[in-house]
Amino acid sequence: MISKKEALEKLKLRCNHCKACELNNTRHNAVFADGNPKTASVVLIGEAPGENEDLQGIPFIGRAGKLLNEFLNEAGLSRGKDLYIINTVKCRPPKNRVPTNAEKVACRRFLLEQLEIIAPKIILLCGATALKSFYNGKSTISKIRGEVFDIEINGEKYPVMPIFHPSYLLRNHSTAEGSPRYLMLNDLKKVYLKIKLLDR
Ligand code: URA
Repeated sequence: MISKKEALEKLKLRCNHCKACELNNTRHNAVFADGNPKTASVVLIGEAPGENEDLQGIPFIGRAGKLLNEFLNEAGLSRGKDLYIINTVKCRPPKNRVPTNAEKVACRRFLLEQLEIIAPKIILLCGATALKSFYNGKSTISKIRGEVFDIEINGEKYPVMPIFHPSYLLRNHSTAEGSPRYLMLNDLKKVYLKIKLLDR
């Protein structure tokens, strides 16, 4: 049986050569993932790479990524050990527009295979694009963030939790009780407890 690392390397190669949608014409790099597949028990799914991510081939390394790192640290989660970070769409949409449905459909095979290989204890749907990829209901991130529900991928159930996208938090500075930043920290602390309790 091939290891997680080998399976992901093969998939990454396919992703780097993918021409299934128009975004391959404008990308500098497909942005596959960041994290240690051996130790990560949490998969965080964002929207799509931005400019810095596209140039360096690593997800969440711009301003939003730095803020995300701060929240993860404060909640006790290690980006390098606990998290495997990916995006709904692997290539940067021009001018950071929201990915189209066609782009999301074209990229879904990579997303689902990544989840199957990692088999995380919990999946964080970070922002509206990631949420809509797995949730058909009418609720919005603001209403259902912090709630845990199951999704099924090829017969396997995975717990998912929607959380705010750090770009939204960059526009909302308050840390007062009930503010988006306050809620984000609470949600991530809940994730910390969940993975540590499941470790036992
Ligand atoms: N926003 C995302 O959703 N993903 C990234 O990788 C960077 C910013």
